[in-house]
Amino acid sequence: MKIFKTRREFQQYALELKRSGKSIALVPTMGFLHDGHMSLIDIARQKADVVMVSIFVNPTQFAPNEDFDRYPRDFDGDVAKCIDHGADVIFAPEPGEMYDEDASVWVEEIRLSKPLCGRSRPTFYRGVTTVVAKLFLLAQPDYAVFGLKDAQQCFVIQKMVRDLDFPIEIIPAPLVRDADGLALSSRNRYLSADERSRALSIHQSLLAAKTEIVANRESMDEALERARAVITASGGRVDYVDILDCRTMEYPTSKSTQVIVAAAAFFGTTRLIDNEIFDL
Ligand code: PAF
Repeated sequence: MKIFKTRREFQQYALELKRSGKSIALVPTMGFLHDGHMSLIDIARQKADVVMVSIFVNPTQFAPNEDFDRYPRDFDGDVAKCIDHGADVIFAPEPGEMYDEDASVWVEEIRLSKPLCGRSRPTFYRGVTTVVAKLFLLAQPDYAVFGLKDAQQCFVIQKMVRDLDFPIEIIPAPLVRDADGLALSSRNRYLSADERSRALSIHQSLLAAKTEIVANRESMDEALERARAVITASGGRVDYVDILDCRTMEYPTSKSTQVIVAAAAFFGTTRLIDNEIFDL
C-alpha cells in the first residue's frame, strides 16, 4: 500500500503508472469508510490494474453552517479497510495541500446540479465538481466509481466528464443499506438510537411512493405528498421529497422512462439523503 500526501508526488506516481501501461480505477471518498465505500473499492478492483482511494474532507463543498469541522475522521481505520479490500494507493492530502491559497478556478455544472441537494446546498456541487476534476487530473484514472446514494452527484459528474472530455468511464455503484433499510452514510454515526429508528421512515416512504407511482404514474404528486407526511410524522424535518427524470433532472414528462424519487430529511441535526431509481 502506497500512501501519498502531496498532489505532486501523487500525480507523478499516477503518470508513471500510465506510462508503464497500467490501468487505474479511482474511488474518491471523504473517509470514515463504511461498507458502501468498500463495495466501491471492490468494483474498482475488478476493473483496473491499480486501485486508488482518495480520502479528503473537501472544504469547498461545505457551506459555513455545515458539518465540515465535525465530519467524522478515522484515517488509521480507513487505511486498514483499504488494505483489506485490495486497494493499492491512498491519496490523503492535508487540508491545506489540496488548494493553493489564491485558487480562483471552479468547475461548475449548471443544470443537473440545480434541483434536490443543489437547491438546499447551492454551493455543494460546485465544490464537488471542482475537487473531483482535480482528483481526476491528479490520479489519471481510466475508471472512477461513485455510489448511487448521491445519485445526483453521479449524474453531475457523468455530465462533467462528457462535457469536458475527461477520458474516464464513470461507474455508478448500487446504494448499500443496513439490514433494516437505512442507507449507509458516514453521517449515520451522528444519529442517536431513537433518531436512527425514526430515520428508517425515509426509505420506507420512498418504497411506498415507488410502488404507488409504478402502479399509477398519475399519482406522482399525491405519492410524494404522502411520503413527506410519513417522514414528518416520524419526527423528521423534510428538506425535499421529489421525483425527477434521471436524464434531465426535471419533473418527469410523458417521455420519461427512468426516474428518481429522492429525499433529504433532518433527524435531529443530521441531514440524511436517500433515493429509489426505477423505470416508469
Ligand atoms: O461523495 C463524496 O464522498 C464526495 O462528495 C466526493 C465525491 C469524495 C467529493 O469530495
